[in-house]
Amino acid sequence: MKKNSITSNIILIGMMGSGKTTVGQLLSSYLNFTFIDTDRLIENQQGMSVDDIFNQKGESYFRKLERNIITDLPKTHAVISTGGGLPIYNDNSSKLNRLGITLYLEANEQSILKRIPIQSGRPLFSSKKGDISNLISNRKEVYNKAKYIINTNDKSPDKVMNSILKILFG
Ligand code: S3P
Repeated sequence: MKKNSITSNIILIGMMGSGKTTVGQLLSSYLNFTFIDTDRLIENQQGMSVDDIFNQKGESYFRKLERNIITDLPKTHAVISTGGGLPIYNDNSSKLNRLGITLYLEANEQSILKRIPIQSGRPLFSSKKGDISNLISNRKEVYNKAKYIINTNDKSPDKVMNSILKILFG
């Protein structure tokens, strides 16, 4: 299948530190698609960092912003990297499945801890053993609703991107 045979959005979901943003950027330049990161979109709209939104307005306010942002996303020709918790709330995962081809970038606690610096500005990040694993366990049922699941453990962004291209183009 040719590169331009895909017009649907490609939507990356998964935990923080699974590589959604890095891989998403690579994929968008390969496909010549617009790249969108929902965290950055929210930050631009609010004029505040995600960290500040969590601290000053609370997590549930941030989740409302995530729910609302979905309607602003393009309908085609975009690679969309979603915040780690976005699919989890408000039935957003079904909305994402209607908006494009969803791919779950699966990563275990060990590889997430390797990828994320401790001072990462991520309010839900914890380097305490077991915390990330628990979050993954709580979320994986929803993440698994993605159309495709790609294991990213110990894989470079290029390797993950190649796995995605194989899935998309055979
Ligand atoms: C979150 C992940 C973050 C960001 C916020 C909450 C989560 O996005 O949306 O800190 O609930 O997992 P990334 O997955 O891009 O780090």
